[in-house]
Amino acid sequence: GKKVLMRVDFNVPYKNGVITDDNRIVEALKSINYVLEQGATLILSSHFGRPKDGPDPAYSLKPVSDHLATLVSVPVHFSEEAIGDKAKAVIAAAKSGEIVVLENVRFYKGETKNDEGLSKQFAELADVFINDAFGSSHRAHSSVAGVTEFLKPALAGFLLEKEIKYLEETVNSPARPFVAVLGGANVSDKIGVIENLIDKVDSIIIGGGMTYTFYKAKGLPIGK
Ligand code: 3PG
Repeated sequence: GKKVLMRVDFNVPYKNGVITDDNRIVEALKSINYVLEQGATLILSSHFGRPKDGPDPAYSLKPVSDHLATLVSVPVHFSEEAIGDKAKAVIAAAKSGEIVVLENVRFYKGETKNDEGLSKQFAELADVFINDAFGSSHRAHSSVAGVTEFLKPALAGFLLEKEIKYLEETVNSPARPFVAVLGGANVSDKIGVIENLIDKVDSIIIGGGMTYTFYKAKGLPIGK
C-alpha cells in the first residue's frame, strides 16, 4: 500500500524513434518486480539525454515508458510532469502493484543543480526512496542525491547493489591479468575512472568516441 519512488537510469540509446538497446531497462526489472510484488505503487524517475532548456519532446521518456509496458505484466501510467499536482494526480489514480513513469527529471532546471526545492518536490511523491540508477550515481542531482535528504527510508536497489559488489570485488582482488575496457563519448567523465584504475590494472583498452581524444593527444589525425 505504500508509494515507492525509484530512481532508475533509463537513459537508453535512442535513434529515429527506436530504442536501440534496452539493457538498462531490463536490468532494472529485478527491483521493479520486487517492489510490485510487495503491493506498492511504483513511481519511476529518470533522466533521458541532456535537454538544455526545459521540456523538449525530443527528450521525453514517453517512448521508454511505452517500451517498459511491453516488459512487465502490469499497467504502466505515464505522467507528463515529474513533480507537482499533475504528477500527484497520476500517482493517486494508479493502483497498488502498478507503475507510474515520470517525465524526464532534467526538464526541471534545478535537477542538475541538486536544488533543494526540487528535491523536496520529488520527496513529496512517495513514502520510500530507492536508488537503482547505478549509471547516474556519480551525479549529485536532485532526483539522485538531494531527494534522499527529505525522503526516508532511502535504499539501494538490487542493480545498484550488484554493480557495487562486483566493482569492489573486481577492483580490490582482481584475477590477473586484469584488463579494463572503457568506452563512451564523454572522456571528461571517464578521466577520474581511468586515474583510479591505472595503478591497479595491467592494461586499459579505450574504445568508442573517447578513442579520438587519445589519438589527438598522440598527435594522430582525427576529425573524419
Ligand atoms: C550515462 O548514460 O552515462 C548516464 O545515464 C549518465 O548520463 P549523464 O552523463 O548525462 O549524466
